[in-house]
Parts: sequence; structure tokens; C-alpha cells
Amino acid sequence: KRVAIFISGGGSNMVSLVEDMADPDHPAKPVLVLANSADAGGLAKASDLGVPVVSVDHRPFKGDRPAFEAALNAELDKVSPDILCLAGFMRVLTEGFVAPWEGRMLNIHPSLLPKYKGLHTHSRALEAGDNEHGCTVHMVTPVLDDGPILGQARVPVEKDDTAETLAARVLVKEHQLYPACLRRFAAGDTTRVDL
Ligand code: GRF
Repeated sequence: KRVAIFISGGGSNMVSLVEDMADPDHPAKPVLVLANSADAGGLAKASDLGVPVVSVDHRPFKGDRPAFEAALNAELDKVSPDILCLAGFMRVLTEGFVAPWEGRMLNIHPSLLPKYKGLHTHSRALEAGDNEHGCTVHMVTPVLDDGPILGQARVPVEKDDTAETLAARVLVKEHQLYPACLRRFAAGDTTRVDL
């Protein structure tokens, strides 16, 4: 299976996925890392790992999401991926983009969905006084952070946690959960991952 990965920033989840796919027994291989900004730190990391990279800056398309998404699809058409992984990708994608990918598009979200869809998940969990938090890998559907769940990983919330210390604890789990979910998904195995 051919995998394209979308990033916006440092790409630590992308690195975890690419490093896992270096295993010759892995059913998938990375064919493209795409960022929505040329200065996304993950682009250099992907290049160092030998993965083709491209950036499609969303800003010139200001207000015209379909035009931005057409530019995304133009890059994807060049590499014909079977699976699309969103990994720290911070742009909302319209139904027009998602619909053709539905069933082949994954995302990682830093909360135990369905709790805390959207942004600032760690501070919201702290404010709610949750004693447990975590991350979720799910299928992408047109509804934001809402598709079928492929796996979840849980972490304890410590009493002296800040959003930053909690986010760091969750991120470690993201780097375990996403590769595990992609391996199963690419192999056609739909059993849920729970870490
Ligand atoms: C992190 O906050 C992570 O929880 C979320 O996206 C952000 C950046 O991740 N998935 P990455 O290091 O760019 O993969």
C-alpha cells in the first residue's frame, strides 16, 4: 500500500509512521509527505528519511478552500496513494475533498474521542478535571474529528499537569498508536488498537 502523509508542523507523528514503514514486513510504504507551508519542520525530516516531499501553501488560496484542495489533489495524483494519513495537519478539509477519500483516510487527534473534538484538547481535559486523557486514530469523514475509531491510547492526568506536560505525555502515545493503527489498516485488519 502507498501512503501519503499530510503535515503542518514538526511532523513527529509522520516520522513515527515513516520509521515504522521502514520495516520490510510492513504492508505499506510512504510515497509523499505534503505540508501546507514550505517552512514546516517535518519536510526536512521527511527528506532526511528519503521520502519525497512537497508543500502546498494554503495562504495564496485564502477563502477558496476548493482551489486549495484541487492543488492538494494535483500533488496526490502524481503519486497515486492508496491511503492518506493526516498527521498534525491543521487545515479543515471540506466534504468535497474528504468524500472521495472516505474509507482510505486516517487522522490522529489528541483526545479520547468523542470527547474534546477540535482544538486545545489538553487544557479542556484539565479544566474538566479528567483523571485520564489520551489520543485517538480514526477514519476521516466530512464531520470534523468524528469518524469510526481505529484505536485509542490512554494516559493518566497528574495533579500537577499543565497543558504542556499533558500534551507531551499524550504525544509519546501518539507515536505508538498511529503506527500500530496504520499497520493494521494497511493489512486490512480492522481490529481496534487499545494502548
Ligand atoms: C500535536 O499536538 C499532536 O498532538 C497532534 O498534532 C500536533 C503536532 O503533531 N496530532 P506533529 O508533531 O506535527 O506530528
